[in-house]
Amino acid sequence: MLTTTSRRRKSIAAWKGWQQRPLSIMVDSSFRKIDGRCNRWIMMMIVTVTVLVATYPVGTEANSLLLTGKNCIVTEPLYNITFNPTSLDSELAHHVKSDINEQFLFDVCDHLKNPCNGISGGAACLKRNNNTQVLLGRDSKLQLTDGRLHFNFTGGEPCRNDRNYSLDIILMCSYESVQEPLSVIPYSADQCGYFMFWTTNLACAPLPDRVKANECAVKDESGYTFNLLPLSHLRYHVADRNGSHFFVTACKPVHYGHMTMCPPGSSVCFVNNTETDYRKRYHDYGQTDPNPTIENGKLVMNMVSSEGTCQNAKIIFECDQTAEEEAPEYVAKEGCVHLFEWRTPLACKEKKFCAVVDPSSGILFNMSSLAGKSYIVKEGDKSYEFGICKMDKSRCGEKSGACELTKDNSEVVDLGKMDENLLYNITGAPYLLYKSGSICKQPNQRWSTKIEFICETDKGAKSEPKLVENNNCEVFIQMETELACAKPISCIATNLSDDRQIDLSALTSAEFNYEARVNETLAIAKDKKFFLNVCRPLLSIYGLGCPGGSAACMAMQSANDPTPREELSMGYPDVSLIIVRDRVQLKYLRGSACPQDKDTQLSSEIEFYCQPKAGRGVPILQEVMHDCHYRFEWATNVMCPQYTAKFHEKTCSIVSNDTDTALDLKKIFPDGVLVVNASKNSASSELRDGKVHLCTKNITAVVDYRERAVKMFFAVADASCEGTAGNINVNLKLECGNSSSFTTNEVRYGRKIKTVPIKYGK
Ligand SMILES: *[C@@H]1O[C@H](CO)[C@@H](O)[C@H](O)[C@H]1NC(C)=O
Ligand SMILES: *[C@@H]1O[C@H](CO)[C@@H](O)[C@H](O)[C@H]1NC(C)=O
Ligand SMILES: *[C@@H]1O[C@H](CO)[C@@H](O)[C@H](O)[C@H]1NC(C)=O
Ligand SMILES: *[C@@H]1O[C@H](CO)[C@@H](O)[C@H](O)[C@H]1NC(C)=O
Ligand SMILES: *[C@@H]1O[C@H](CO)[C@@H](O)[C@H](O)[C@H]1NC(C)=O
Ligand SMILES: *[C@@H]1O[C@H](CO)[C@@H](O)[C@H](O)[C@H]1NC(C)=O
Ligand SMILES: *[C@@H]1O[C@H](CO)[C@@H](O)[C@H](O)[C@H]1NC(C)=O
Ligand SMILES: *[C@@H]1O[C@H](CO)[C@@H](O)[C@H](O)[C@H]1NC(C)=O
Ligand SMILES: *[C@@H]1O[C@H](CO)[C@@H](O)[C@H](O)[C@H]1NC(C)=O
Ligand SMILES: *[C@@H]1O[C@H](CO)[C@@H](O)[C@H](O)[C@H]1NC(C)=O
Ligand SMILES: *[C@@H]1O[C@H](CO)[C@@H](O)[C@H](O)[C@H]1NC(C)=O
Ligand SMILES: *[C@@H]1O[C@H](CO)[C@@H](O)[C@H](O)[C@H]1NC(C)=O
Repeated sequence: MLTTTSRRRKSIAAWKGWQQRPLSIMVDSSFRKIDGRCNRWIMMMIVTVTVLVATYPVGTEANSLLLTGKNCIVTEPLYNITFNPTSLDSELAHHVKSDINEQFLFDVCDHLKNPCNGISGGAACLKRNNNTQVLLGRDSKLQLTDGRLHFNFTGGEPCRNDRNYSLDIILMCSYESVQEPLSVIPYSADQCGYFMFWTTNLACAPLPDRVKANECAVKDESGYTFNLLPLSHLRYHVADRNGSHFFVTACKPVHYGHMTMCPPGSSVCFVNNTETDYRKRYHDYGQTDPNPTIENGKLVMNMVSSEGTCQNAKIIFECDQTAEEEAPEYVAKEGCVHLFEWRTPLACKEKKFCAVVDPSSGILFNMSSLAGKSYIVKEGDKSYEFGICKMDKSRCGEKSGACELTKDNSEVVDLGKMDENLLYNITGAPYLLYKSGSICKQPNQRWSTKIEFICETDKGAKSEPKLVENNNCEVFIQMETELACAKPISCIATNLSDDRQIDLSALTSAEFNYEARVNETLAIAKDKKFFLNVCRPLLSIYGLGCPGGSAACMAMQSANDPTPREELSMGYPDVSLIIVRDRVQLKYLRGSACPQDKDTQLSSEIEFYCQPKAGRGVPILQEVMHDCHYRFEWATNVMCPQYTAKFHEKTCSIVSNDTDTALDLKKIFPDGVLVVNASKNSASSELRDGKVHLCTKNITAVVDYRERAVKMFFAVADASCEGTAGNINVNLKLECGNSSSFTTNEVRYGRKIKTVPIKYGK
């Protein structure tokens, strides 16, 4: 039920904004036991909504860490990790172009070979388009500033307003082998200071052995494999509701970084925001669990702290097909364990034939059109036959997915059993894994075959599957196909000033394209339309024939002929998001040739900014620069931080003083009573009656704009709950939905007990 309603929510509600619709309600509540019986989780979907103000908590920074490296090497004092990025000196191309084609030349750990603006021995140089040069820095130093590893270039030429030019190259940890391109951003209004991000594993703490090559997968008794590895590149900032927060990751540890000096190997890192001494601020509340396990039918990760202080953690994964944008949620502490709930489609057991969803973007890879056939690869005098998810006719034998054939086809070696589960690798390549073939070298080792699908870059050229390697009892086949090309760019940007991550993926749409409005002051023909998507290509719907892969497109579309014509690409989604002051910028570059200037390619830029009242918002075209560069602005609440609202006991409502809106709980729950299944033996009279009186509770309410939900927390007294100080902790989540009725769907002990439909609203 959640699935269908949520899906509608995403398509329609996301488009229109969520707070303007009339009050009507849809509640989908699961009241179930998460772990011990003293923590409860309830989810509901409603339409009504409060719009609330946003404020940022300000972190204290009384005691900070600043170290300058010697010879380009620096050792951080908390965990004795030595960062040695000297190899970047030779690896780097040493030059980067900004999007307006300025060229940056620099050398880390060394000096430039050629003079810059007539000055020799400098370290960083900016070459402008008009061939003028600017010395950005004479020297660079490797510095460690509160966990941020960066090359600080100083001694640049005077700029203006008594400022000198400067350059700061920030090294960001990533364990992935694929490097993101360097991006340059001017960060000061006067454009004297520049930042560059450089993602490299040299900025990482060493990985513990157990998570170096973990698959982060588990098989249930039916043989279904849950694979959580795609969650590993996300790091979540989860509020503990006491003013501090956790950093939470799955499968890999929290990356060491600015204001994230977490103990090595920890996946749940507690950051005490009231602690001013950085040496005591970060705590390991749970070391990374390399693979999930299944406990009472639930996918969980158990994380034990290395500090040995009754502060461990457990993540419970819940299946939610539509939860692409959802973050782990703090539930409560029970005994020595902090419980988190993480809703993700990866915890769903729904088998998709030959298809897989990338959970961070929601993009579906579907290889089923390749299924059924059998494919042959030849390597030397060997010949291999394989199928994709299914083979109608083959020489491999029943159940086999791949086999090696001898020249005369007389002998067949089974290289792995057919498997129709497409898997998804963090690198963006979907793959199939056929295991348990014939015995390979030793009796306990059997052949397996991995078929990886990679994006076909040379479109049109007929590409054959390739045998990449055949060793260690694994056959590795690569197949180029357009079906693997939907790889989205990361829709997450890191704010340099406060190190928060801003995730715009809630705006990425897999169901429709956004049509931009046009600022009334611009002279643009009425039937010229602008279509956009966020961090992914446009969908080819309604005859919109933009060049494949474009993320922004303009087309002519008149009222009497709605079929778009003269489509021109306004750029492709291959640059990641950057944050400039209070805005997030997304650029789409290298579009079609610009009609007004054939030497230039069309490009577009979208600036997102927080506006709590805006709902999801729509893009507005604000400016056309040099005829070819289109600048859009997009006010949205998706990037507004969570806001803690006030609960007024008297009126039983959650109130925002900013927008004069209130969420009247009595309107959702008649008489303010949340009806749950009666627990006959409960020590709590409310639970014995199955009636929880919300209005008398001390409710903490948090508005989460990104998830479009109001999250409520309160306690119900139950003397028998020792692990939680005599309370049952209840988490109640009201999600924006769009239906005129609501149902209470109560689930306990992981089993559905009953469904009570209640009509509500118009
Ligand atoms: C820090 O690590 C280095 C090796 O990487 C080791 O030689 C040194 O003794 C360690 N220092 C401390 C204080 O543990
Ligand atoms: C070159 O361009 C910069 C800014 O783009 C400008 O400040 C400078 O005056 C220009 N120099 C010349 C010689 O045109
Ligand atoms: C670079 O280092 C200097 C001192 O060496 C310091 O004043 C400046 O703030 C540093 N810049 C950055 C961006 O950290
Ligand atoms: C700026 O550059 C000038 C000339 O190179 C130098 O004299 C001055 O000390 C620099 N100022 C700073 C703050 O680095
Ligand atoms: C928040 O504070 C309450 C009361 O002091 C405590 O019971 C709870 O464990 C704290 N939460 C965390 C995450 O420390
Ligand atoms: C956070 O730090 C403060 C100040 O040292 C301390 O009093 C408090 O107990 C710490 N909180 C937690 C949850 O560790
Ligand atoms: C994959 O594509 C096929 C058609 O090629 C379609 O029938 C199937 O429903 C798609 N699978 C999913 C999960 O969308
Ligand atoms: C994912 O891809 C990387 C790089 O190609 C590879 O090293 C790793 O083994 C792959 N992981 C899985 C589970 O296939
Ligand atoms: C249209 O552009 C003008 C001038 O740039 C600006 O003042 C106005 O706010 C814009 N209108 C909208 C709806 O964004
Ligand atoms: C980045 O952080 C700074 C400081 O907290 C804040 O002023 C700015 O608005 C933030 N930017 C965005 C896009 O949230
Ligand atoms: C909203 O509440 C805050 C503090 O609770 C207060 O400072 C602010 O003035 C209020 N705003 C309005 C518009 O009432
Ligand atoms: C209500 O909860 C808040 C936050 O958890 C706490 O600070 C406050 O003391 C509680 N009030 C009562 C009356 O229990």
